[in-house]
Amino acid sequence: MTANKKVHIKTFGCQMNVYDSERIAETLAPHGYCETERSEDADLIVLNTCHIREKAAEKVYSDLGRIRTIKEARRAAGQDTIVAVAGCVAQAEGAEITRREASVDLVVGPQSYHHIGDLIARSQRTGERLVETEFPSATKFAALPGRPSTKAAAAAFLTVQEGCDKFCSFCVVPYTRGAEYSRPVADIEAEARKLAGNGVRELTLLGQNVNAYHGVGTDGRDWSLARLISRLSQIDGLERLRYTTSHPRDMSPDLIAAHRDEPKLMPFLHLPVQSGADRILAAMNRKHTCQEYVTLVARIRAARPDIALSTDIIVGYPGETDEEFERTLTVLEDVGFAQAYSFKYSPRPGTPAADKPQIPEAIKEERLRRVQAVVARHQAAFNESCVGRRMPVLFEKPGRRTGQLIGRSPYLQSVHAQVAESSIGSVLNVEILACGPNSLAGTLTVAA
Ligand code: 5AD
Ligand code: SF4
Repeated sequence: MTANKKVHIKTFGCQMNVYDSERIAETLAPHGYCETERSEDADLIVLNTCHIREKAAEKVYSDLGRIRTIKEARRAAGQDTIVAVAGCVAQAEGAEITRREASVDLVVGPQSYHHIGDLIARSQRTGERLVETEFPSATKFAALPGRPSTKAAAAAFLTVQEGCDKFCSFCVVPYTRGAEYSRPVADIEAEARKLAGNGVRELTLLGQNVNAYHGVGTDGRDWSLARLISRLSQIDGLERLRYTTSHPRDMSPDLIAAHRDEPKLMPFLHLPVQSGADRILAAMNRKHTCQEYVTLVARIRAARPDIALSTDIIVGYPGETDEEFERTLTVLEDVGFAQAYSFKYSPRPGTPAADKPQIPEAIKEERLRRVQAVVARHQAAFNESCVGRRMPVLFEKPGRRTGQLIGRSPYLQSVHAQVAESSIGSVLNVEILACGPNSLAGTLTVAA
């Protein structure tokens, strides 16, 4: 079918939503839709939403207000606009969205978007406003179209696992993404080979609880993430592998060993600690103590001494005392993260912590500021420690200045260098000459 209709997809939230948005575009292509950057030109607008914190969810409603104006203007010009809300807000709020926003035609959860094209056709035919929020994930992955054979970016995401059975008491993911599900190794390998054939050099394996991966292997048994990584590292053309996000409880010995033994596995690990206080960790249902986390980090560093660590921190969890907050600062000082994301606790309806007495906003603000100051200091120190070193950089896209490309270091830092545009998609050795708070700058080393 020729593409004569336009779809605008706006993605909120995590990398898995980025992956899902690409799959939504591919699913819509056979229905005659091609992508547009401009929502004003779109026959179909899809918001792929995030529900992890209140602010993220509220952004969706403010966007829908803006979209309503676009829809009305287009209608006045005789053009129809279909509005679909996908992703985690769709799953969590369902029909509430259609009640709150008259412009929404379709609500489709993260496990149902594989038939978004049919749902749109049905909604148009019957004039119904549809809400589709069924589980499970297995059905979706089996029904998605294969990746197209077009040239891809140098780095790509690949979802290998979805959902979560951990039920941390602050988190909506087990409710919006459902139970843990691991895709079969053969399906992942086929997708990875296709991507490598299209020019992808670096693959980030995605999952809400990626290191709990236990998909069926080519021998019919369950394979661990380490075994999957070992298999994917045999694919020619794929030069780098990463995975995110991991839970400390699932950092198994074979995965730690992979960081020592697997040259394609990059020395970077995002491992959320959330808090440095054992009482808070227990209340969060994290099922590890601070000391267990620190010991785990020591084992990972013993396997791969140069590994850069990243983490997530929540400040102001219900009941967090000053002393407990200080412990979070202490674990940050003790581990020395190369980067970290920090958040004020945000009550999510339906999660256990939401009903507890809340910490005042001003205290959360102050704690967040202090965490961010420590994190910025460590990140700057890590970046400075890279100056003078040589490291392989995968060049991904043009930079702001002419003749400049931007790439990624093994430690996930952005690296700027003067490099010919033809080097996009190549891993080249760079000597790091300078750094800023968020990036490095260097020059190509001359081959010996
Ligand atoms: N409030 C604040 N931060 C949260 N996160 C998850 N749920 C909440 C919440 N309710 C953070 C955690 C998680 C990251 C993806 O988002 O730190 O690791
Ligand atoms: Fe949420 Fe991660 Fe905890 Fe699962 S492990 S409930 S995704 S924070």
